[in-house]
Amino acid sequence: MAKDLFSPVTLGSISLKNRIVMAPLTRNRAGEGAVPQAMNVTYYEQRASAGLIVTEATPISPMAHGYPALPGIYTDAQVAGWKKITEAVHAKGGKIVIQLWHVGRISHPSLLPNNVLPVAPSAIKPAGKAFTYEGLVDYVTPRALEVSELSAIVQDYVHATKCAIAAGFDGVEIHAANGYLLDQFLRDGTNQRTDQYGGSHENRARLLMEVTHAVVDVIGADKVGVRLSPVNPFNDMKDSQPQAIFNYVADALNQFGLAYLHAVEGGIHGGGESDPFDFVAFRKLFKGAYMANLSYDKARGNAAVQSGHADVIAYGVPFIANPDLVERFKQDAPLNEADSNTFYGGTEKGYIDYPALNG
Ligand code: PHB
Repeated sequence: MAKDLFSPVTLGSISLKNRIVMAPLTRNRAGEGAVPQAMNVTYYEQRASAGLIVTEATPISPMAHGYPALPGIYTDAQVAGWKKITEAVHAKGGKIVIQLWHVGRISHPSLLPNNVLPVAPSAIKPAGKAFTYEGLVDYVTPRALEVSELSAIVQDYVHATKCAIAAGFDGVEIHAANGYLLDQFLRDGTNQRTDQYGGSHENRARLLMEVTHAVVDVIGADKVGVRLSPVNPFNDMKDSQPQAIFNYVADALNQFGLAYLHAVEGGIHGGGESDPFDFVAFRKLFKGAYMANLSYDKARGNAAVQSGHADVIAYGVPFIANPDLVERFKQDAPLNEADSNTFYGGTEKGYIDYPALNG
């Protein structure tokens, strides 16, 4: 039988019962101390029929936070909170990797230790507003990181990866997309450095490669994915030649033998027009498994798997509203509509109360 979304697959050393992945989704419902709480366990457990869950983007250090009520992956209490989630997902036969996140300039002093400035490759203020505990406020101009500070950030990824192992995750995904720190280094709209971390493709990709190297050393390449978003303008991002830099990155990542490359194939959050980009050519440069994301439905997902473009498809909004998305796809059952008013923050409403087909 031809493969489709329901065929099993192995990404690196992570074996999936189907090719329907739950995409990383920021939900802003962690407890005190950035610790996952009971409703977070229920939320992920309800979605364990996905072939793989990629958790919400998760800060790797206090400086990596950029929104209210995010869960972290750097303290013992956070590890204990996540452990309940990985155990619940595994008990249901699911697999789960954690997305490792540093927001860079997409933050605000009120969200950071001692109210310091957010950090970035260059001191360029993003257009738009930060989400803070006091509501929406203008972004500030971030502080440009010194070269001497970067190894400590790499070590924060190492520490977070060790925490992820202790919490029982099946792997980690390095978030290098959507205008956050590693993406800020990749694209020349945000990286105007003149040292070895700016300018050439090799230089702009250097921090991502150092982070990937360090994370792979801790957990093994067959348990590591990387997420990129070559033309997503969200968070005031741009690059003068996106195809050139991201083709370079896809090829450079081949050196590791990663579990997968995850691509956001366009723009999210109505962030504006995306530049043209050839995702087929980009995908072909990467020699490992490929996870495609952005507005796929069942038919387009199956077509992408059958054509060989993608090995797995990550679904975001459909998983918010349909804990049993896999079963609904199987039965061609109607999908629940997602309520965008309850995407970010709040209570169990719009989080763990979406009904399953036979719920
Ligand atoms: C968001 O909170 O809107 C958000 C977070 C992480 C992403 C993209 C969007 O990668």
